[in-house]
Amino acid sequence: MSQYLIAPSILSADFARLGEEVDNVLNAGADVVHFDVMDNHYVPNLTIGPMVCKALRDYGITAPIDVHLMVKPVDTLIPMFADAGASIITFHPEASEHVDRTLSLIKEHGCKAGLVLNPATPLSCLEYVMDKLDVILLMSVNPGFGGQKFIPNTLDKLRAVRKMIDQSGYDIRLEIDGGVNVDNIAEIAEAGADMFVAGSAIFNQPDYKHVIDKMREQLAH
Ligand code: DX5
Ligand code: ZN
Repeated sequence: MSQYLIAPSILSADFARLGEEVDNVLNAGADVVHFDVMDNHYVPNLTIGPMVCKALRDYGITAPIDVHLMVKPVDTLIPMFADAGASIITFHPEASEHVDRTLSLIKEHGCKAGLVLNPATPLSCLEYVMDKLDVILLMSVNPGFGGQKFIPNTLDKLRAVRKMIDQSGYDIRLEIDGGVNVDNIAEIAEAGADMFVAGSAIFNQPDYKHVIDKMREQLAH
């Protein structure tokens, strides 16, 4: 795997042909499948659950599946997603009564664990759990929908988290989600991200490989 990971969000894929879409985007050079779970409670939208994750594994998808839980409560879904083949499970700290316990639960189930910070969520919630994090995901839009515009002050937040990670000495991925495209991916990487979720920027184009190649070109500078 390269230093930078590209994780297409299947929220913008054609759900009627999901297996094929995921295959296509992986063959086009994607590293990770970003799987958005929304419950119409924590966020005002409703998407897919563990059955669909399992269906992708049964279809033959072997790439890492990065499950982004936008749900409340969180804990009941963790064993279900672990059984369904999730590789990484991330959740929003506001959605869990006991963040430390939820992180441990994810790890006990053999998955990598991460916290997701909304645009207005401060960094203080990371402070006492850095040792349990494999991923920190910064939202650069408000969660709930694909196709929104990147919120520019996320760049400062990325720089601050990059500093925290580097100072901690832990091996933690810094993932960014929302409004990422070929035009802004370079400055997002410069601000410290090393894992890039992109939904509409990839799936709304006819040639996924073309977009992913362009993203990697930008990242190579
Ligand atoms: C938003 C989701 C994102 C979304 C990204 O709540 O978490 O993963 O699908 O979509 P784009 O890349 O279109 O902003
Ligand atoms: Zn997401």
